[in-house]
Amino acid sequence: MFGVKRLLVIACFSATSVYALDGSPGLGQALDSAEITGIDISIDATGRNLPVGSGTALQGASVYEAKCLACHGAGAVGGENLADPLVGGIGTLTTDKPLKTVVSYWPYATTLFDYVRRAMPLNAPMSLADDEVYAVSAYLLFLGGVIEESHELNAETLPQVKMPNRDGFQSVWADR
Ligand code: HEC
Repeated sequence: MFGVKRLLVIACFSATSVYALDGSPGLGQALDSAEITGIDISIDATGRNLPVGSGTALQGASVYEAKCLACHGAGAVGGENLADPLVGGIGTLTTDKPLKTVVSYWPYATTLFDYVRRAMPLNAPMSLADDEVYAVSAYLLFLGGVIEESHELNAETLPQVKMPNRDGFQSVWADR
């Protein structure tokens, strides 16, 4: 019994001791707004939080060649010993051999910007300037047949791009 009581005392002490006098958990430190801006990079389907900047496929071709080609291949169609294709497969999702790529599967173009900015190139994530992310996103969407080569992507135009599978998830959501 003594052992249980002592455990309880220790448990209560540990539970209360992590709270500071003002009632906050007393952990970590508050970030200032500049620090928050640096990590608050999530972009939703409406394009909220997209940064200033712009780019076209014409500009994105050179970004792709320098920073993506080695892994995703010419034309972004992947290949042997390469990462998965990023384009192609439009219209295959309901067939026996669905090919899920950015252009055939992803419902929103804003996800492409978000993903590339935070995760690519795989060996140097978050190293691209925002203009480069807009441009290389435009290049991929152009390769995939979704936009014209000269179409400029920016915070206003990117959310307006209609991805081929935009409505493909509706029935999944409607059932919930
Ligand atoms: C060092 C190799 C490498 C480089 C360089 C690279 N990628 Fe990737 N990329 C990958 C791998 C591997 C994956 C799959 C990652 C996973 O599934 O977690 C991937 C995934 C992706 C995806 C998601 C595909 C999907 O359907 O889920 C996109 C989009 C993408 N890369 C774009 C780019 C762009 C744009 C660049 C250049 C700025 C780039 N990548 C450079 C290796 C690379």
